[in-house]
Formats: sequence, C-alpha cells, structure tokens
Amino acid sequence: MKLLLFASVVSLVILAPSAVFTQAAGGRNPALSPAIERSVDSILAGLTLQEKIGQLVQYTGGWSTGPTGRSINDEQRAFIKEGKTGSLLNVIGSSVTRELQKIAVEESRAKIPLLFGLDVIHGFKTTFPIPLAEAATWDADAVELSARVSAAEAASSGVHWTFAPMVDIARDPRWGRIAEGSGEDPYLGSVMAAARVRGFQGRDLSNPTSIMACAKHYAAYGGAEGGRDYNTVEVSEQTLRDVYLPPFKAALDAGAGTFMASFNEINGVPSSGSRFLLTTILRDEWGFDGFVVSDWNSIGELIPHGYAATPAHAAELAINAGLDMDMESRCFRDNLQSLIEQGKVRTATLDVAVRRILRMKFRLGLFTDPYRASTPEREAKTLRSAANVEAARNVARKAIVLLKNEGHLLPLSRTVKTIAVIGPLAENHRDPVGTWAGPTDTNNVVTLLDGIREAAPASRVLFSPGCAIDGGDTAGIAAAVAIARQADVVLLAVGESEDMSGEACSRSSLELPGRQADLARAVQATGKPTVLVLMNGRPLALSWEAANLPAILETWFLGHETGHAIADVLFGAYAPTGRLPASFPRVTGQVPVYYNHKNTGRPSDDSVHYTSRYLDVPSTPLYPFGFGLTYTSFSYGDLVVASPRVRATDSVSVRVTLKNTGTKEGEEVVQFYVRDEVGSLTRPVRELKAFRRVRLKPGQSTPVTMTIPATDLAFTGVDMRRRVEPGMFSLFVGPNAAEGLVGRFEVIE
Ligand code: BGC
Repeated sequence: MKLLLFASVVSLVILAPSAVFTQAAGGRNPALSPAIERSVDSILAGLTLQEKIGQLVQYTGGWSTGPTGRSINDEQRAFIKEGKTGSLLNVIGSSVTRELQKIAVEESRAKIPLLFGLDVIHGFKTTFPIPLAEAATWDADAVELSARVSAAEAASSGVHWTFAPMVDIARDPRWGRIAEGSGEDPYLGSVMAAARVRGFQGRDLSNPTSIMACAKHYAAYGGAEGGRDYNTVEVSEQTLRDVYLPPFKAALDAGAGTFMASFNEINGVPSSGSRFLLTTILRDEWGFDGFVVSDWNSIGELIPHGYAATPAHAAELAINAGLDMDMESRCFRDNLQSLIEQGKVRTATLDVAVRRILRMKFRLGLFTDPYRASTPEREAKTLRSAANVEAARNVARKAIVLLKNEGHLLPLSRTVKTIAVIGPLAENHRDPVGTWAGPTDTNNVVTLLDGIREAAPASRVLFSPGCAIDGGDTAGIAAAVAIARQADVVLLAVGESEDMSGEACSRSSLELPGRQADLARAVQATGKPTVLVLMNGRPLALSWEAANLPAILETWFLGHETGHAIADVLFGAYAPTGRLPASFPRVTGQVPVYYNHKNTGRPSDDSVHYTSRYLDVPSTPLYPFGFGLTYTSFSYGDLVVASPRVRATDSVSVRVTLKNTGTKEGEEVVQFYVRDEVGSLTRPVRELKAFRRVRLKPGQSTPVTMTIPATDLAFTGVDMRRRVEPGMFSLFVGPNAAEGLVGRFEVIE
C-alpha cells in the first residue's frame, strides 16, 4: 500500500530488468512451433549421414568476397552441390549469395538452403560507432537502432546471420576486444546485449530485414589473464555466473538464435569442449533451442590447448559437449562419419545438432524464400541510405563522453576566429571506423577536420598532424605548435589506430602511443585553450592529460559520421550525454581496475599504510564507470527509500529529486547501485541495478524514482544457487559509480 501511494506522486519510474529483457522469437521459444518441428523431423528423416554432417559444416568464402570481389572456389561449390555445407561466412552481395544459394536449393539432393554468416559488428555499409562506444550511450534505443539499420543493410546483401552481439565482460582494457563489447558491467552489458539482439532480429526473424544474432564468445573470453587475447581464464563459478554470464542470458531471453563458443579455456576446460557450458548451463538450465557455432577453428584448437589429441578427438569432444556447427576447423567434416561408425558419437547426438540448425533455418524463413528477397535493387536502395547515415550520426554523437570541461571551454562558439586542428587522427579516414568494420568504405568517413570546416564555415581552420599515431618521429611537432600559436582554440585529435584494439590486438601500455604525449605537451605549452579529442578502442591512462588540458572529449571510434558527430558536440548542436561503460585507470599498472570490486579486509585508504593499495598511485580510477559530464550541472537531493524493509518477493524503490542547476538544458543518466552489506559470500562494493536518462531545462527539478524487483539482489551462493539473502543493503543514486546519495534498506525473511 505504501508503495502504491508513493508511486502515485512520482513522474519517472525505472523499468525492472525483467521488463527490459523481453523475449522475441529466436533461440528460446517456450513452446517450439509444432509446424516447424514436424518439417525439421521430416527433412532429417530423409538425410544421408554425409548430408547431416554437411549441415554442421561452415566454410569461409574468403575475406574479400563480395559484389565486386572474388567468389568462392570450385571445391566449395562442389561441396554445396553435394550437400556437404550448411553455412558460409564472409560471402556478401545479393548476386553472389543468390548464385550459391541456387546451387544449394536447386542442385543439391536435399535442397536445404545455405546460411550466410558475417561479422556485422557495428554497421554494414554504414559504419556506426564501435560497440564499446555504443555502450557509452547508455541508451538501449540508440543501440537497438544501430543494430536494426545494420541488419537491414546486411540482409539486403544476402547476409542471414551476424556473429554479434559480442557480450563479453571486460575488466582489463589491455584486452583489445574490449572494443567489441559493452565494457565492464554485467547489468549495462545485459541491457546492451538485449538491445542488439532486438535490433538484429527485429520482431520477426523471418522478416527479410532481420538477421539472426549470435551471442559470443561463450564464455568469459574477456577474463583472459593479463589482458592477452586467447589467454587462459581462471574464474570461480560464482563470478562466472554473476559477472560473465548475465549478458549471455539477457541475449538468450531477447531471443538470440545462436551462441558462439569462445577460444579460451575456463578452469582447465576449453569452452569449445565444455559440456558444462554448452549443455548443462545453456540447454539444461536456460532452455536454449537454437544452435551453437564454434569460433574460427576453435574445435581444432582443442589440440594445442592440450585437451584433445587429434582432430577426431577434438570433434568427438566438441559435439558431445553440445557444439553444433564447426566454423572452419574441418574437424567435423573429416571425422564425424568415422566417430559415428565407431560409436564414439551417437547418431542421436548428431541428429540433435542438425535439428537445431534446421530449426533456425526455418525460423529465418529460408525454406519459404531461400534468397530472403535480397536483390541488387534492394541493396542499392538500402545501403548507406540517407536515413541510415543520419541514424549513424545520431548514435555517434550520443556515444561521446565529456570527461573534462574546465571554465566551460565547451561548447565552442561558431564565431571563433581561428581553430587549429592538430593530431594524427584529425584528417584520418582509416582509423575512425574502428575494429571489425566489415565491408566498410573508409572514403565515407567524415573526418574531424571535415566536420569542423562544415560546422564553422566562418572560422579560419588550420591543420597539422603533428606526429604519427605510433613511432618515434617528432619532426612534425614544431609545425603543429606554430599553427597552435595562431589559433584561438586548439582541437587535438590523438589516440589509437583502429588496429590497436580488436582481435589479437592487446596492448601492455594504455598511455598514448608513439610521440602523441609529446605533441600534447608541446601544444599545451603554447598556453592556448586546448580540447583533447580522443579516438581509441579502449580506456586509456590519461593522468597527465587530465591534469593539464582544460577539456577532454572521449569519442572512441565513431564510424562514418565521426566528424559530424564530434562537431555537433563541440559546437553545442548536441549537448553530450555519454557515460563511461568502463573505468579509466590512472596508469596501466593499476589494471584491472573496475567499480564492482570486493572490499577486502583492509579496504584501500591512501592515508593508512597497511591497506590494499599502491604506494605510488591512488587505488581509484582516473574516471570511474558511469562518469560523463554535460554542458550543464545537476544536483541530487531528498533521497527517500520508499521500501526500507522488503521481502525477496517485493520491489525496492527509492526516490530522489534531480535538479538542473546549470544554465543549459541537459540530460542526466541517473544511476542506481546497491551493496549487499554482509553476505554468506562477500559481495561487491557496488553493483549497478538500473539507470534512467532524464532531460531537464535550466532550473527545472523533478522527482526520479528507481524501482527494481528485490529478486535482482540475488547472487550465486556456495551451493551455486541464486538467492536473495536477508540483511542490510546500501543503495546509491547518483551520476556515476563513485558518487551519489546513500540510503539503506533491509531484506527480511
Ligand atoms: C573471432 C570471432 C568471429 C569469427 C568469424 C574469429 O576470429 O573470434 O569473433 O566471429 O572470427 O569471423
């Protein structure tokens, strides 16, 4: 009753996660469609052993295949005709996919359509921001839109299936693949995972503008020791379940049709041979009915892992663990027949895998229209349409995070007389597309320099690269300093190249590479007001820059609309709304530094020697998770815990008053964290449970209510069961993981 009364006076209510992660048609239908299941059974009954194995085999058509590129080779064409291929990856373009599909459905005996897969990670022909940047929007609608546009473009080009979203939690920014995911937090990661699945798959997977999603890399790939790609992962089962798995579960609940097994081992068992991951959790606990694809040759890699002795052994372990489709290792192709004959793999196991793959081909509508209406005409109309490019600009500007803005240097006036644009990323078409940009055309990148010239036509715009992104050459710094001296404001675009993050692109140093820090120091020494415009695929260590430069914009890699989006923010056409999806360390040696850590018995206190800390650097990050400034300021007040005592079946509800105390309209991302004060296992110092965007005019204030079901307080206990434990909880409502108003509530039996 109290709760109801309370609810009636508030204007904004946070959606409970269960409402956020609604389910769409995909890999987990509560009731399997009887019609599809009957059709699958009847096809399966008519297949030869070789044809069944064929459905489990995926080949690459070559990286450069496409409308204007080369086609796949004759051997692979023959395999399609003989029914020995279930899927191809890296083949794009309606003409070539139609031609190959025609072989499958007209010339092969079983006439089963092929499935065309591709890494559609952040756009297809229209390149959106890298996924880490999209996560910085803290805006599920924006991320869903990006995936929807990407799906429509890819689908027009004959692609049926994307190897995305990448939902790996990454606590170590040295790991280059942090760029492909949503950062360090399981809740934000889950919101983004679900949004991407909804975007790719739409409401109906069989709609020809939808493509099937693939939650990857299952699982805990981001836990690689030392941040080195493909490296060993040692993680407790509780942390696996509470930190690494939630975004996978959210993707599944949103309907993701497929999962990809990861390269890494977890506690001694490589994922691609892990029955625990692929069957116990995914099938038995979660009820997934889509299929699992290996990562590239990850079945074959069971051998160097030291888990399988031979390719045949690897195939046996993988399929018996629950892995359904073999990407590129050939272990299934070459060994499944003899494994069946020897009784090492049961026919029933093979049939289950084939059934799962056929089921998803049916759900995609491939048996109704194997071409899914992809034509050159549709491609021409869809690819890089004006609406798609506009969407990319909108998402890109939302991804920008304002880290510092001393003396309100930003936004800039459009009448500023002379602007010096300096840095190796300022007039750069290649790097802003970021990693895994697929079939992008880098000529379509609007560079920062282009964007500034367009946005400030009356200004004199000078440009000098200053130095390269990497390497030791300082010869260009003098010229950069010379134009800085002539300017009223300097925009300094530095960061990483696109190939410094992504797969196999881990770095041991998070400081600015090459001589860019020298360039920054030289520009700063001119005394000119300088805006640091960062382009990078991971959190960087920016202690000097943060202490010495007045304004910092984190722009990540924003894709084709880079220059437009950054100019929109710099000149105030769009006031920044992005928030960090991962903590920024002070120095590299501090990583992993993440907000939802444990407290320890000697919590870090810089004034007390025997505490958990470093001698030479504070334990806190330079910029915490959730951090981001706006062009205005907000205050939080009047925290009221509406539910001071709750049962595990109730909701937790808290209200604050948010006020815009600045002089400009702005949008705040109100964040709600909890801490379970005492547990049967120790609990993190904070965990994000909900967030909400609130737009206010100057002087305006509003009550904001955050409500979550108390079941969201559950964690995995010693017995591996999830439960909410009675006891006291702290809650925090504020602008980031390090600030906020504090309250308490109790969970009672
Ligand atoms: C990557 C996957 C990707 C696959 C296919 C692998 O190297 O780990 O993320 O989907 O290649 O391109």
